[in-house]
Amino acid sequence: MTNPTAPASPALSQDELKTLVGQAALRFVVPGEIIGVGSGSTVNKFIEALASMKGQIKGVVSASEASTARLRAVGIPVFDANEVGELAVYIDGADEIDPHGNMIKGGGAALTREKIVAAQSRQFVCIVDESKLVQTLGKFPVPVEVIPMAVQRLIRQFAAMGGSARVRCKALGTGQEPLVTDNGQVLLDVSGLQVSDPLAFESQVSQWPGVVTVGVFAFQKAQVCLLAAANGVKTLTF
Ligand code: A5P
Repeated sequence: MTNPTAPASPALSQDELKTLVGQAALRFVVPGEIIGVGSGSTVNKFIEALASMKGQIKGVVSASEASTARLRAVGIPVFDANEVGELAVYIDGADEIDPHGNMIKGGGAALTREKIVAAQSRQFVCIVDESKLVQTLGKFPVPVEVIPMAVQRLIRQFAAMGGSARVRCKALGTGQEPLVTDNGQVLLDVSGLQVSDPLAFESQVSQWPGVVTVGVFAFQKAQVCLLAAANGVKTLTF
């Protein structure tokens, strides 16, 4: 089901689309509650918008150190996930989302905490621009957080299913050092996969020894997607 909810100009840049969808997500914030907040450049726009409502919520549970720093900088209280119960809503971006609300996440390396906070929340509202909507997940390499000693065996297991896995390195200019996540682990990015059955894929890979979290979110899929396009922000419900 799609409903145009906000007008947009055809000339908006991707950054402006992210701002628009970050602002549109405010209507899912439940006053008086603690909400879950993800991470990434689209969520950064949401955090900027949320600052205008900070007196109306108790606070948030954050899915990354980077988001926590931004939230605290605008004066929003951040709670530990273990200090609170079920959250009313979790708002986060995605690298890809399919027409059923299944997603690939982890382009920003925060997939494990994102999946934990999503699991603790009653509703997942995904905020993306229209470039993220795909028919089948897998064009974006699937991030997988793994225990370092399992890296080479997992690379072989992904090869056996037709994927090409590489260890994610720190940003250009910092050499070929592996990127270390907020949880002290490393990431594989797996390209060449067509994730036509996201639930089955997530189930299978999650059971491989050494896998901490696979960046396919099918068990924790979105219930709502706010999709920013040239003609406005659409609301997709799944
Ligand atoms: C972070 O690990 C990710 O799951 C992000 O939600 C995802 O990469 C989307 O990020 P952008 O909003 O920066 O595209």
